[in-house]
Amino acid sequence: MFKRFRDRRIDKATRLKYQETFLAKSDFILPIFIVGGKNRIEAISSMKNINRMSIDMALVYLKNLISRGLKSILIFGVPDKKGIEQAYSNDGVVQLAVKEIKSKLPDLTVITDVCLCSYTHDGHCHIGDNDATCEILAKIALSHAENGADIVAPSDMMDGRVYYIKKALNDNGYKTPILSYAAKFVSNFYGPFREAANSTPAYGDRKTYQMNYANPIEAMEEIEADIEEGASMIMIKPALSYLDIIRMAKDRFKIPTYAYNVSGEYAALNYLIDNELAKEEIIYEILVSIKRAGADKIVSYFTPYILEKLDEYQSL
Ligand code: PBG
Repeated sequence: MFKRFRDRRIDKATRLKYQETFLAKSDFILPIFIVGGKNRIEAISSMKNINRMSIDMALVYLKNLISRGLKSILIFGVPDKKGIEQAYSNDGVVQLAVKEIKSKLPDLTVITDVCLCSYTHDGHCHIGDNDATCEILAKIALSHAENGADIVAPSDMMDGRVYYIKKALNDNGYKTPILSYAAKFVSNFYGPFREAANSTPAYGDRKTYQMNYANPIEAMEEIEADIEEGASMIMIKPALSYLDIIRMAKDRFKIPTYAYNVSGEYAALNYLIDNELAKEEIIYEILVSIKRAGADKIVSYFTPYILEKLDEYQSL
């Protein structure tokens, strides 16, 4: 006697009956790159279908996606001029974008990336001293909250940044939740993003602050510390080479767990698809794998694709 598994696979209807992991449109968060000015749409050569947009253009783009089921975005500001004051100024691109988007599209959850790498002249996420950087990060997060951000998401990997941000928010009466990029690894998968955000380090690398990708136990310590400091949600980044970390975090901590399907993962998959080395379904496959690993929410440049195609994959 032996067990017949193939009975579960005879056709799509049967396969769907046995399917254990499903994606929902509301699982997805779209990263968006905002520039100043008006009427600007700039292609990013390494990231197909992803553009830097001025706020007016972003509003049109997002409105359309909302009608297809978009629920949440993650904003990155790409200032025309470098300088850290821009990062916490009320006239900064992120602040203006949040204000405008929340007033015109109030149902959209707006998460802001809190970091300095697009603002520093050297492209690093800090200004030299860890704690001095945390003070600036706290000012940035506070200014995002003041302009209406629903969630602030520090991605810098300084020690204690969640503590500083939480304190600044509390002291000023804001309850804005913190989504910390708690386990962010020093990854070779961020290349296309750095073109998009104009944030490539002018010298060296990020190995003195982003995590060594060989360290799962330390990743749990990083996450635990951020939760203790006041994070309401945690993020693992990148996603695909880090599914084990997502699973470990999900099993260990009772907190919403996000995963960031990063720019290099996006570009690599598009390469396979565009060169007919893989079917487009590879996108669904990897996103299911991230959810299966335990992610509650997935930040992904494939969000528009999923909004369009999810029903085809998951229904008859
Ligand atoms: C900046 C930041 C990076 C990403 C998100 N926030 C790049 C980096 O750390 O160099 C990468 C996102 C992606 O690759 O899609 N701190």
